[in-house]
Amino acid sequence: MAAESTQMANTEFTNPNLEVLHSEEQIRARIAELGEEITADYAGKDLVLVSVLKGSCIFLADLMRVIDLKLTIDFMSVSSYKNEMKSTGDVEILKDLSNSIRGKDVLVVEDIIDTGLTLSRLLDILGSRGAKSIKLASFLDKPEPRIKTELKIDYTGFVVPNKFVVGYGLDAAGRYRNLPFIAIVKDPSAA
Ligand code: IMP
Ligand code: MG
Repeated sequence: MAAESTQMANTEFTNPNLEVLHSEEQIRARIAELGEEITADYAGKDLVLVSVLKGSCIFLADLMRVIDLKLTIDFMSVSSYKNEMKSTGDVEILKDLSNSIRGKDVLVVEDIIDTGLTLSRLLDILGSRGAKSIKLASFLDKPEPRIKTELKIDYTGFVVPNKFVVGYGLDAAGRYRNLPFIAIVKDPSAA
């Protein structure tokens, strides 16, 4: 039975166009470290994790379970990529937060910082709402294409090369978010 389900997982997740960059085990270990750091840094604070949908949903779900504090979560959805694999620089708020962040210690939880355009626009918007502090946790940091070089990532999962990556919440045209690992798309035109 165990062998059968492993076989099934391999079949489902084997795609010749993907090259695994970080395995499920590596991700789990790294997120446990981030959880310890965040737990120590936010002790005694009124922490709200603001997840940027949809890409950060899996990171949020794993990260929040390794933070040993009383915290709340909220969601925001912004669109910058549509279904393309390049940044347009335009940010549209598709879903705003449900609750006020006034007086709160906000940790924005993002999937990847690439050019940084999306996040710096989002931080501008959140910055005007009276939060006590705003910091940024990004599962991935892809520094090479950065345009907003002043953007500070306070907590980074992994630094990745300048390639299109998918899995663990990140998509190519809406697909591959369900992969439990992070993979490079070898031929983006065939993704
Ligand atoms: P930025 O505005 O260029 O920093 O892009 C941020 C957003 O673009 C991320 O939240 C992702 O949704 C998307 N993105 C950037 N690079 C990748 C990638 O390699 N794979 C999947 N999505 C990406
Ligand atoms: Mg995103």
